Amino acid sequence: MIFLPVILLSFAAPVLAQDAGVRPQPEQTHTPANNPYADRNYRWLTEVWQKKGGAAQPHAANGYDIVAADAWSAIMANMLIKTGVADGATVFDFGCGGGSSCLVLNKMRKNISFYGIDYSQSLIERAKKELPNGTFWTQSITQPLKQQPATKADLVMCSGVFLYLDSPKDVEQSILTMASVAKPGAKILLGDISDSEKKHVADKIRGEVHSKVATKVSSDDSLDHLYLSRSFFSDIANKLGAGIEFIEFADVDPAGSYANGAYRFNAIITLPNAHEPRTQQ
Ligand SMILES: C[S@@+](CC[C@H](N)C(=O)[O-])C[C@H]1O[C@@H](n2cnc3c(N)ncnc32)[C@H](O)[C@@H]1O
Repeated sequence: MIFLPVILLSFAAPVLAQDAGVRPQPEQTHTPANNPYADRNYRWLTEVWQKKGGAAQPHAANGYDIVAADAWSAIMANMLIKTGVADGATVFDFGCGGGSSCLVLNKMRKNISFYGIDYSQSLIERAKKELPNGTFWTQSITQPLKQQPATKADLVMCSGVFLYLDSPKDVEQSILTMASVAKPGAKILLGDISDSEKKHVADKIRGEVHSKVATKVSSDDSLDHLYLSRSFFSDIANKLGAGIEFIEFADVDPAGSYANGAYRFNAIITLPNAHEPRTQQ
């Protein structure tokens, strides 16, 4: 009898996540034989992101508890300034979590229309509370959108999300979805990407930093991050006929407040204006 609740619980969690459209589609599922990180994104959801949402500060709910709230807001504000986002813009945040980046922008600019998606129900609830005028819903960024924004976005942002996905293919697919909700000439801000050329730095820093923060899960091979190269993003931008600019953390965080910035980078994709021809693919 004692095993019954355990058995029921272990069946309930995947079913709930499947309902949220989060489980990878069959064609995206990797078997352990061909991918040592099989279902990594699903594990991050169930072991980490579903449990967030209740943290006192929004940036901590979004996992940025290794840096002070003010310092994190300043870094995010510096990044947003580089996108040129103006008052009255429509902004779509992919992997918005509890809305902490939207909150930073909300203080910087007036009359922004916010849209956001995240696969963690608890974080979407938090985003709705923080920004009651925004439109937020639960879904994975790797899945076709359940809803469309009323107007196409001037700025799409996706910060600190790609590192949890299963594969580069999922990252590329989600960028195509971002481009589909953006106006011609819009910016796509891709933040906090783990650099495949700096994995050795990452292993050292994550070991040191995480051991000091009680809320951090220890990583193992299957709950590690996805590391990506700059050329991977340049290739996607080229396929979109878009421009791309890389932003170093040293530029937006000159004080070095964010330890993970030592092995991460950011990028801004500028989509072509409608009349511009596509570049060579
Ligand atoms: C480090 S937090 C960053 C949140 C927010 N973008 C920010 O900059 O503060 C990572 C977020 O990615 C979300 N996430 C991870 N994989 C996702 C997926 N496949 N679809 C939607 N959200 C995802 C998590 O739930 C979490 O909210």
